Formats: sequence, structure tokens, C-alpha cells
Amino acid sequence: MFWTAALLLGLIALLLVYSRRRRQRNEPPLDNGIIPWLGHALEFGKDAAKFLTRMKQKHGDIFTVCVAGKYVTVLLDSNSYETVLKDEDCLDATGYAKLLMKKIFDLHLPNHNPKSERNRAQKHFQGNGLTQLRNSMHNNLQLLLTSPEAGLNTAGWKKDGLFSFCYSLLFRAAYLTVFGEHNNAELTEIYEEFRRFDKLLPKLARGTQNKEETKVANSAQGRLWELLTPPSADRNAKDLSWLQSFIQHLQEDGMDAETQRKAMLLQLWVTQGNAGPAAFWVVGFLLTHPEALRAVREEIISVQHLAPEERDKHTPVFDSVLKETLRLTAAALITREVMQDTKISLSDGQEYRLRRGDRLCVFPFLSPQMDPQIHKQPEMFIFERFLNENSTERKDFLKDGRRVKYSIMPWGTGENKCPGRDFAISAIKEFVFTILIQFDLELCEDATMPSVDTSRYGFGMLQPRGDLEIRYRKRS
Ligand code: HEM
Repeated sequence: MFWTAALLLGLIALLLVYSRRRRQRNEPPLDNGIIPWLGHALEFGKDAAKFLTRMKQKHGDIFTVCVAGKYVTVLLDSNSYETVLKDEDCLDATGYAKLLMKKIFDLHLPNHNPKSERNRAQKHFQGNGLTQLRNSMHNNLQLLLTSPEAGLNTAGWKKDGLFSFCYSLLFRAAYLTVFGEHNNAELTEIYEEFRRFDKLLPKLARGTQNKEETKVANSAQGRLWELLTPPSADRNAKDLSWLQSFIQHLQEDGMDAETQRKAMLLQLWVTQGNAGPAAFWVVGFLLTHPEALRAVREEIISVQHLAPEERDKHTPVFDSVLKETLRLTAAALITREVMQDTKISLSDGQEYRLRRGDRLCVFPFLSPQMDPQIHKQPEMFIFERFLNENSTERKDFLKDGRRVKYSIMPWGTGENKCPGRDFAISAIKEFVFTILIQFDLELCEDATMPSVDTSRYGFGMLQPRGDLEIRYRKRS
């Protein structure tokens, strides 16, 4: 009996080893990892930045790794991203987006088309739409800061974690702006359920949540589906909001009420999941770098008299601080499905073959953002990194003596750039300026910047492990 089992196990092991994929001519270097099928899944999920840095040191700017039965080619030459990702016929964004929708949001949108979603978002979050959103964001922030229920309008010092302070306030203001009116109690509940859900998002995406976590995710999701009411709209109205036009599109596609609610949660995450954490990192870096805080404060005073649209054009110091913050903390992994055997050409002229059914990822966080050839001391927060001496924007970043086209890519690249980026920038700026003008903010004794939650590499803005303790007081 023992010998039969041992023989069987031996045979399975041999089969797994011999059926392992081998590198073929002109393919990127292949790294299967030690464990058959699982490959590098555990290391990848634990800290993608560390794992991919190790692979880059071993193989260079392009390599293929086995991750839970899937072969993923990772491209880390940022000069090639734009050209390579242009081929949308061979490298498709839809399939992977649908897979994540199913795994995270239990959502099935058979006709999902990222291109038309991006166009819809562009129409509403840029140009004239942006001016309206910016005004509305300003008013909603003021409303929250003065409403007695929000509890911020009181004299005397209060303590809080900076992450929770920034995320809750920005989330609520942006929710009122994009999703419309809600009473304060509901708004607070939506925020709290969203945070419970968002904390588990990386695990849901990887399918590594345990029973207890599945329960928490289901209960948060269920409550959010109840709370997020799809907006109604007159079918013939011309000026639909972004959300109204999205829901109308789902209805025309024949999606039922349940699917519409699930899709609302997806959109809640797309529009609210990144700006709050970004605002936290900006304010956190300012509080822990007094010279940067001083420079931003001086700039705010000098532009305070201008209307927001005009003001936003004259804030080079803040703009540099924001870029530097995003360089250090924006870490989306951009993923495409390889639809057919194809060949990609990199900026150094090398060509590589990709196999149908694999995935291709680019990771702007590692390259260009943390590339030591492009950014000296890349781990450090240097607030003037994106400023010239004459206070204009610095754009001349070099690699191997040649100017790089993009020194950071927090919004993605090419056609697929985040369509909400102008709104996100203006919301973060409005938020930071408002709290620096209206509050005294201080670090609590011994408070230091928390480290990064490494499981979130790949999912947009990073989040801290723990929080940064602050005290604040509304100025009279
Ligand atoms: C700091 C804040 C934000 C960051 C760093 C960020 C970053 C990104 C990135 C990297 C992508 C993916 C590009 C790709 O897959 O190629 C994306 C997509 C997108 N973002 Fe943002 N984003 C932010 C805030 C926002 C906001 C505030 C909105 C809207 C109000 C928004 C709306 C969208 C939409 C609609 C998409 C496209 C999703 C799709 O393809 O279906 N984003 N964003």
C-alpha cells in the first residue's frame, strides 16, 4: 500500500516537472518557480514590488513567471509601455477586467467595453464637466466641515489617525459630488462598509480570503448594495450625470436591478478607492517633512485670493509634492490578456514572442517611478524633485543619458490613462488646501510615517499598514 502511494506520488511529481513549460526561441526568460503549478504566486501576492525587483535583477526588463497556473510576462522597460500596449487587438483589457469584476464584485457585465466606459468618463470628468464637479466638490467639502453631525466644527484639539481622517472626509465629499445627496448617517455607513470591503479587496482579487473574511466581504457588499440606490433619470434628458448615463446604458443592455446595484459598487470603488489614500500620503509626507509643509503653506497664502480654476494653475510647489507622492505610492499593475500569438518590440530594438492565453503586465511603480537611474535616491521623498530652480515644472529626467518620455505614470499609459485624473488632482488639491487653511494639524508625539501594506501592490494607490497619529483643531 505504502509503495503504491509513493509510486503514484512520484509519478505525479514527474508528470508535473516534465509538463512544465519551457522557454522557446525569442520568448522572454522564463521562471517557473520551484513549486509546480503554483509557481511564484505566494511571493507575488505577498509583496509584488519586492518579487518583481528580484526577477528584474535576475532576468532584466522582461521575463515570464508562472503564477498559479497562469504565465505572466512582466515588462519593466517604461520606454516601451506605450507602443506595446497600443496593440489592443492582441493585448486585450476586457477579459481581465471582467474576471476581476466577477471575483471582487460578483458582477457579470457581458457587454462591458472599457473603451466606451473610458469615453463616457472622459466626457463627464474632463472639460466643462470638470468645472461643475470642482465647484460641487468645493461646496460639499465646506458643507461637511461646517455640519454639526460631521463633528469637525468644534474648538479644541482632537486626535485621529491621519489615514482615517483624510479618507473619510474626502470619500464623503467626493461621494456627494459624484453619487449625489445622502443624509449624514447613511453617508457614514456607506464609508464604513466600503472600508470593510476595500480592506479585503486584494484577497478577493486573488481568491485567498478565508471563511471569516468571505463573511465580512459578503456582509459589507450586501449592505452596500442596499445603500447604493441607482439614480433615476428622464430618458430624454440631455444633461445626464456620469452615473445616470452609466445606469441608463446598463438598463438599455437589459441588466436587472440587482446587477445595476452591483455595478454601482464597482463604480464606487473606481471613483473613491484611490483619491482618499493619495490625500493621506500627501498630507503625511508634508507633516513629516516640515520644509515641504512650509513651502506649500507659503504657496497657498500667495494664491488664496484666486478663483479655484486660476489658483490651480499657479501651484508649482504643491504640484511637485503631489507628483512626488504619487511616484512613491501609485502602484497599479496594468494587465492585458494575450489574445493571439504575437511579437512585441521594445525600445532597445529587441523583439519577443508572447503566447496566446498568457498575460502581459507592466508595472510603472518599479519602472519608471522607482528606477534609480531616472530618480536619484528613489526611496526618499524629495518635495522639489519635479521643480526647476525658477519654479517651473521639471521635465528633464534621464536614463542612460537619454531623456525619458514619462518619469512617473500614476494614471496608467497611452489610451488607457485614468479618465478621472483631472478630477482626482483637483479634488486632492482642494482637500489639502482646505484642511491646511482651516485646521491646525500636528503629529502626535513619536508618530512616524507607517510602512506600506505590501499586499496592495498592483491595486492602485498603496495604503499604509497602521496609521499616522495626529491631533487637529479647527481654526477660529
Ligand atoms: C489618485 C487617484 C487615482 C489614481 C492613481 C487612478 C489611477 C488609475 C489607473 C492606473 C487606471 C487604470 C488604467 C489601465 O488599466 O490601463 C484608472 C482607471 C480608471 N479611473 Fe482612475 N485613478 C484615480 C482616481 C480616479 C477618480 C477620482 C476617478 C473618477 C472620478 C477615476 C476614474 C477611472 C475610470 C473610470 C477608469 C477606467 C476603468 C475602466 O477601464 O473601466 N479614477 N485609474
